[in-house]
Parts: sequence; structure tokens; C-alpha cells
Amino acid sequence: MKIIRTVQTMMKEMELLKDKKVGFVPTMGYLHEGHLSLVETAKKENDIVIMSIFVNPLQFGPNEDFDQYPRDEQKDAEVAKQAGVSILFIPTVNEMYPDEMSINMTIGKGSNVLCGKSRPGHFDGVITVLTKLFHMTQPTNAYFGLKDAQQFAMVNSLISELNFPIQLIGLPTVRESDGLAKSSRNVYLSSMERTDATALYSALKLGQKLIVDGIKNPVTIIKEVENFIRTSTKGSIDYVELLSFPNLENVVIINEQIILAVAVKFKKARLIDNIILNPDGSQLDRIN
Ligand code: PAJ
Repeated sequence: MKIIRTVQTMMKEMELLKDKKVGFVPTMGYLHEGHLSLVETAKKENDIVIMSIFVNPLQFGPNEDFDQYPRDEQKDAEVAKQAGVSILFIPTVNEMYPDEMSINMTIGKGSNVLCGKSRPGHFDGVITVLTKLFHMTQPTNAYFGLKDAQQFAMVNSLISELNFPIQLIGLPTVRESDGLAKSSRNVYLSSMERTDATALYSALKLGQKLIVDGIKNPVTIIKEVENFIRTSTKGSIDYVELLSFPNLENVVIINEQIILAVAVKFKKARLIDNIILNPDGSQLDRIN
């Protein structure tokens, strides 16, 4: 596995790999099985796999955890190598943003709901860094986790509206055995909160069951999911929302593909989770 740290070297390398099918997995590191599941699929579908590790300051708000975000470059490099990554791109902040940006990218549709509401500017930072990373790595296929489903929807708009010649692939959320979605931020949870945190997925499954049972009114489902979380955790609910997917618009009655998504704040961690469902309540895994 090659480790590349500069934009210039990365772009030169891609010039040499022009005829290869390239799978790209962008990450912020502190790798876990969620990230590695993306690599595993990318490996099967491409000649080479590039992973980036970059904790992107542009997507963190002033009171968010940019400085505290967990980092372990040495271990990540080892794990990425074992997983079969061919090129690991680890630029510094200065390498990615040598000067203050004079171009500001702003995403409209779908950015003012779910996490976009409580994290203003977050998705603008995400699409900015991904635009740069896509140019640097020029992938055939880009792999994202549906754990961050709103991010997937934003990247979908980015790729289609700005005509990136990239195939976007969304893959299922990898979970701990008790259902908690794997996340680099789970390390912030106290042991009591870790037990509580299983409520997010249990609440989503409850919502799914109601839809399978034939309930079509989003308000009823949201209420039940909120009640479940409130009675089974000490965390405070940031949102429980049911929207169309990937358009992220309000639905009055469930008769299209939807996302049921939750965000819950614990003392040091804000956790998110979601499920994407067909109108009959069956779950969607891969999207491309
Ligand atoms: P990060 O949180 O490190 O996630 C990198 C990729 O791994 C994302 O596509 C995310 O959805 C996926 N992922 C995280 N946890 C997962 C899980 N439990 N199961 C499946 N996939 C999972 O998302 C980012 O970084 C950044 O915003 C980034 C896209 C790199 C831009 O800076």
C-alpha cells in the first residue's frame, strides 16, 4: 500500500492509473468495520482502491469536535493495508486548504432538514472537500455508507448537478451485535450511555414494524419512535424525522421510498441512525 501525502503526488499517481477502474472511499479515519465494508465492496468492483483520511475542518461548526475528533494514523494505515487499500491519501489541512477559499459552495435542496438543521454549513463543507477529493483521485466509483444517508443524498446531488463522471454507491450500515451503528464517535460514550445508545436502532425497528403493519401516517410513527427513545435513554432527542428519500421532502402519507432518521445527544456524543424503507416497510440496502 502506498501512502501519499501531497496533492501533487496524488494527481501524478492518478495520471499513471488512468486506464484502471478506481474505487474511492473517502473517510475521516479512526477506521472501523463500517469503513472497511466500503473497502471490501470497492475491492470487488474495481482494479484498485483509494482511501482518503482527512478530518475536514470545513465541515465542523465552531462548537463541534474538530480538535477532539479521534485520530490514530498509524493504526489506520495498518488497518487499511490489511483491508487491501492500494493507495492511502492522507493530506494535511494546509495541503488541502493552502489559502482561505475564495469559492464558497453552498448546497440548497435537502440541506435544511435532519442534521443540516442543527449543523449549519456542515454539508457545504462536505461537498467542498469531496469536490476537491474527487478531482484529485478521479475515481470510477465512489463508496459511501448509508449510515450518513443525508450526506449520501447531498453527494448524489453534487455528482449529478455538477456532472462528475463518477458512479455513486451507497452501502448498508454496519452495526455492533446489539444494533448500535458503528461510528468513530462511539468512543465518546460512557458505559451507561453505550447501553442506552442501542435504543436508537430499536426505535427505528419499531417504526419499521409500524409501517409493515400498515400505518401510513408519518406523524403516528414519529410519535411512537420519539416515545420509545425518551423512555429508554437519558440522551436528548435532536430529531426524529420521516422524509422522502433521496429528496428529503415531507411526506403526508407513506407511499414512496422514505427515510426514518434519528439523532440523539449524549453528554459528549451526538449519535445518528436511520433506515431507508420501501412503502411496504422492506428495507433498502445498496443504492446505486
Ligand atoms: P467518516 O465519518 O469517516 O465516514 C466515512 C464513510 O464511512 C462515510 O461514507 C460513512 O457513511 C461511512 N460509514 C461510517 N460509519 C459507517 C457504518 N457504521 N456503516 C457503514 N458505513 C459507515 O463521512 C465522512 O467521514 C466525511 O463526511 C467524508 C465523507 C469523508 C467527507 O469529509
